Amino acid sequence: MKLHVNGTEHEVAAPPDMPLLWVLRDLMHLTGTKFGCGIAQCGACTVHVDGSPLRSCITPVEAVAGKKITTIEGLSQDGSHPVQRAWAELDVVQCGYCQSGQIMSAVALLAKVPTPSDTDIDQALSGNICRCGTYPRIRAAVHRAAELGKA
Ligand code: FES
Ligand code: FES
Repeated sequence: MKLHVNGTEHEVAAPPDMPLLWVLRDLMHLTGTKFGCGIAQCGACTVHVDGSPLRSCITPVEAVAGKKITTIEGLSQDGSHPVQRAWAELDVVQCGYCQSGQIMSAVALLAKVPTPSDTDIDQALSGNICRCGTYPRIRAAVHRAAELGKA
């Protein structure tokens, strides 16, 4: 099956019902996307499909064949994406486990709403759980990323 991931087409030997998360992590070795719950409840596995955030743990790979998939590795080669820069500047990360999912949800929000309110941020990221409680820093970093994105 052909998959379009981070701007490149890949041929993967995956059963059609294999979750996209396993294909990314185990077959393509893109381990930035994390497994948290496996039942669409935590957001750790969030990637973009055609620009929209999607829970890769419950998505059969056949459902995204031919679509544009972006993982955290696809945002930038060197951490220079405005959201990655804002995350680093505000030192958002604690254990880090949830953070690629948080960042992918934030990037999708900012693509739609370039200057989001606190409410916009809370709503867009409400499905991304952080057991370390970094929510205040996440919110601040989304505002900062909005500024950096316009700079
Ligand atoms: S691992 Fe997919 S939502 Fe938790
Ligand atoms: S930083 Fe630890 S779960 Fe979010």
